[in-house]
Amino acid sequence: MDASDMGLDLEKVLLTEEQIDQRLTQMAAQIDADYAGQNLLLVGVLKGAVMVMADLSRKLHSQVTMDWMAVSSYGSGTKSSGVVRILKDLDTDIHGRDVLVVEDIVDSGLTLSWLLANLKSRGAKSVEIAALLRKPAAAKVDVPVRYVGFDIPPEFVVGFGLDFAERYRNLPFVGTLAPRAYQS
Ligand code: XMP
Ligand code: MG
Repeated sequence: MDASDMGLDLEKVLLTEEQIDQRLTQMAAQIDADYAGQNLLLVGVLKGAVMVMADLSRKLHSQVTMDWMAVSSYGSGTKSSGVVRILKDLDTDIHGRDVLVVEDIVDSGLTLSWLLANLKSRGAKSVEIAALLRKPAAAKVDVPVRYVGFDIPPEFVVGFGLDFAERYRNLPFVGTLAPRAYQS
C-alpha cells in the first residue's frame, strides 16, 4: 500500500519509509549495545507494534526471544482511559527476565504506564520501552521510554502498524489523516 492508494484520505506524510528504516537501524544498534550478552525478551503490543517489532527485531544482532500481548483500554471513543484489560497475555514467565516492550506509539502514556507496572509486578529483572513514536504534547503521565524513534505533534497518525478503524496499518510510512477521512 502507498500514498496513491489512500486517495484524499491522506493529509501528509509525516515520516517516510526511509526515515523510519534509518531510525530503527540506530535504535537496534543502541539496543544491541545496551543488552550485550543478555537474554533479552521483546514484548510486542498487538496489533500496532507488529511492523515495528518485525523491522526492529530483524536489525538486532543479539539473540532475543519474542512474545506478544494484546491490551485494550476501557472507556469510550478513541481516548485512552488508563484502565487496561488484557486480551492476550504473555506465554512467557518473565520472572528474572530482561524485558523490552516494543510499541508503536506513546500518546497519553496511560496504557504503557499500566503495562510497565503490570510487567514489573511479575518479577522481571528489568522492563524498558522502545516506541517508534511519541506525542510529548499529549502526555498525561510521565512514562520513561528508553528508546524513542520520533517525537511527533499531537495529531492522529496512521501507517506502519497504526490504524484508523483498523485500516491503513499496512502503509509503509506514517501519515496524518485528512479531516474528511474521519467524517465519512
Ligand atoms: P495511550 O494514550 O495510552 O495510547 O498512550 C496508546 C495507544 O493508543 C493508540 N493510539 C493511536 N493509534 N494513531 C493510531 O492509529 C494515533 O495517532 C494514536 N495515538 C494513540 C495506540 O494503539 C497506542 O498503543
Ligand atoms: Mg499500541
